[in-house]
Amino acid sequence: MNNQTRVRKAVFPVAGLGTRFLPATKASPKEMLPVVDKPLIQYAVEEAYEAGIRDMIFVTGRSKRAIEDHFDTAYELENELERAGKHAMLDLVRSISPADMNCLFVRQPRSLGLGHAVLCAEPLVGDEPFAVILADDLMTGDNGGPGVMAQMTAAFQKQGRSLLAVQEVPLEQTKRYGIVKGEPAGGPLMRIDEIVEKPAPEVAPSRMGVAGRYVLTPRIFDEIRNQPKGVGGEIQLTDAIERLMQHETIYAFQYAGKRYDCGSKEGFLQATVELALQHADVGSSFRDYLKTLSL
Ligand code: G1P
Repeated sequence: MNNQTRVRKAVFPVAGLGTRFLPATKASPKEMLPVVDKPLIQYAVEEAYEAGIRDMIFVTGRSKRAIEDHFDTAYELENELERAGKHAMLDLVRSISPADMNCLFVRQPRSLGLGHAVLCAEPLVGDEPFAVILADDLMTGDNGGPGVMAQMTAAFQKQGRSLLAVQEVPLEQTKRYGIVKGEPAGGPLMRIDEIVEKPAPEVAPSRMGVAGRYVLTPRIFDEIRNQPKGVGGEIQLTDAIERLMQHETIYAFQYAGKRYDCGSKEGFLQATVELALQHADVGSSFRDYLKTLSL
């Protein structure tokens, strides 16, 4: 096993079709849907950057060009803003891609599942630990505290074992998540001894559901490469993690913070309302507006 414990790279699987958000996602990537004023993918990249990660690896697909453009220089726009003296806006646009951040893109030619998407990033990740961030899970740290990925990379630095972010989910929702069972291992850590992808409530080993944040050791690539299709006929990351567990200790990590399932309309609306209430420009007037509604 590679002994490096600094996480320098994050993989963002963004090739999915976003069918749960049609018609909005017919011609635009679901990761570009804005929550208040930023697209989902920007929240995810900012969370990785805050964790000290500088290499952002996007596993993209057809019709995802907008994501590349979002993190690229926008010459015309920047020139226009400069000419008009709109410096604050210019800084805002330029801050999307800080100078020390690298964006790398690889295509997933077919939708064969999350595990397959992660495997597509292998040539860019190489033999070192890396993060996986699912942008449609928008995650916020507890008020003012570090973000979820920063909490995870700090934990990984201490013990060097793969980590999966988990939270308790309602029993009737186990079939939406990877579900883990394990033993308390101190603080927010649980040593996993079982993981199942999307079990029915009757057979779920627990109610601890995996949220879309992982720190994985590079051996995961060998496990994905050699595994058969799983639930839904897809190459599941969860199945590869189960195989990795035979060789390495894996921890579930109970993060401090909140997760919004922005792959669902309800979660997306919750994120929109809560982040709008916290927003520096619109927060207080939006709060006043909400109070006028007779709910
Ligand atoms: C994926 C994973 C699942 C995890 C979930 C978190 O499922 O396969 O194990 O719990 O992300 O959002 P998806 O939501 O892509 O169906």
